[in-house]
Amino acid sequence: MAERSVSSLGIVSRNFLFCLFVTTSVLFILSWFFVLRSTSRPSFVDHSLLPNSKVLATGGDNGDSATRSENEVEPSIGNRSILVDNDEEEESPRENAKSDVKCNTKDSLALDQQKENKLVLKVFMYDLSPEFHFGLLDWKARGNSVWPDIRTKIPDYPGGLNLQHSIEYWLTLDLLASELPNPPNARSAIRVRNISEADIIFVPFFSSLCYNRYSRTDPHQKKTKNKLLQEKLVKFLTAQKEWKRSGGRDHLIVAHHPNSLLDARTKLWPATFILSDFGRYPPNIANVEKDVIAPYKHVIGSYVDDSSDFDSRPTLLYFQGAIYRKDGGFVRQELYYLLKDEKDVHFAFGSVQKDGIKKATQGMHSSKFCLNIAGDTPSSNRLFDAIASHCVPVIISDEIELPYEDVLDYSQFCIFVRAGDALKEKFLMNLIQSIKKDEWTRMWQKLKEVENFYEFQYPSKEGDAVQMIWQAVARKVPAIRLKLHKSSRFSRSLVHSERGLNSIPSPNNFW
Ligand SMILES: *[C@@H]1O[C@H](CO)[C@@H](O)[C@H](O)[C@H]1NC(C)=O
Ligand SMILES: *[C@@H]1O[C@H](CO)[C@@H](O)[C@H](O)[C@H]1NC(C)=O
Repeated sequence: MAERSVSSLGIVSRNFLFCLFVTTSVLFILSWFFVLRSTSRPSFVDHSLLPNSKVLATGGDNGDSATRSENEVEPSIGNRSILVDNDEEEESPRENAKSDVKCNTKDSLALDQQKENKLVLKVFMYDLSPEFHFGLLDWKARGNSVWPDIRTKIPDYPGGLNLQHSIEYWLTLDLLASELPNPPNARSAIRVRNISEADIIFVPFFSSLCYNRYSRTDPHQKKTKNKLLQEKLVKFLTAQKEWKRSGGRDHLIVAHHPNSLLDARTKLWPATFILSDFGRYPPNIANVEKDVIAPYKHVIGSYVDDSSDFDSRPTLLYFQGAIYRKDGGFVRQELYYLLKDEKDVHFAFGSVQKDGIKKATQGMHSSKFCLNIAGDTPSSNRLFDAIASHCVPVIISDEIELPYEDVLDYSQFCIFVRAGDALKEKFLMNLIQSIKKDEWTRMWQKLKEVENFYEFQYPSKEGDAVQMIWQAVARKVPAIRLKLHKSSRFSRSLVHSERGLNSIPSPNNFW
């Protein structure tokens, strides 16, 4: 009995399902028909009803995308396969530049940009006192000037290992250069003087240099200059109208050295940071959604006119680095014991100091693969040394974050190995020996294609690290706007409540 009633129930529901299927299919086909009809008429949306395009920060325009794809030169297949097609995300800042042309035809720079069909970030930069930036390079301001006259002399950033974190310096120089009468051609960001036109507000504090140079205590002072300047910066920023308005969300701060901005980060975290990794940051202070990862400036010289090949690079696997007692040091030590007796493997401890750079350059230029093992932080400049040397990086760092990874597929020119796997007997050697000449040569080719993305220079050139970082920042702008707009929903009630917008939100309930 029970069985029969179950089966009859099954027939009823089967009939019902069939009817439902037929009805939904018909509806689906009909809806397609209407969608096709409506897209064939671009005037479906009446743009005259839309508010001023300035307010509609990311307004789309049907006609525009059509003309754009016509004008766009098809990128070479080589580039395209590495760089993920990111047209949609690039759309909004571009649209933005365009809408400004409409409002302000005097803005000839934006007009040029529109012709070139490029992404341009508008950056407001505070005229911070020189003690926060070029003053740290021992540059002396003349009169009331805050910035050096970069047409005459550009103050040098100190060399050696300081340079690997010099990102702050190159970005600031690039913004200053955008105001020159004949600005350099490469242009992903321009400095704007009107803060309400800006996409983002840049804080020109050379935090890494400040940490490197001034974190030793002066016997006459209780606090280091590094601490004092951070306190001063927090005081300055949180007093600004713009900071209060946004809670700091639309500010951009460079803190590339993992120990830089150590005190201020807990107060300035609503801003977007430019970092080397998140190793020393709790996720509520810095994370991959909010912040931008920038490459280190490589200390090993670029391999110019590299005509080497698989067979002419005698060393199979190269590692030269410091041994750390903390965290990642364990992996390094274990790997050392696994690899030290392998044929064609160079594995040595000792950090790359001045005279060591020449040796390391030779070593990396004559190796097929270069190891990057997490040290006391997930990232290190060794990866960027390997890229500049066209030595295929083998990355053993589970927590590493990579620059521009939203548009760049690193698996095409790097080998990733989980630390757990790398410590298995023979695993690493078997993996690397399985990569034969053809595959290695393909990766070597890609390295030569991408190496420019990691070059810092002044003046900055098309597609170099400075331009790539600005573009990565530009890709954060829509999310920043979204947060800002959401947070202003109840701004009217907030004015009347005890807790004004001035208070710094707590990291825990902000996200
Ligand atoms: C794309 O490829 C072309 C030719 O192969 C090269 O000149 C150009 O620099 C590449 N661009 C990028 C962004 O890699
Ligand atoms: C700054 O830009 C806003 C919006 O474009 C404009 O309303 C304002 O007048 C500008 N201020 C100055 C001083 O030019």
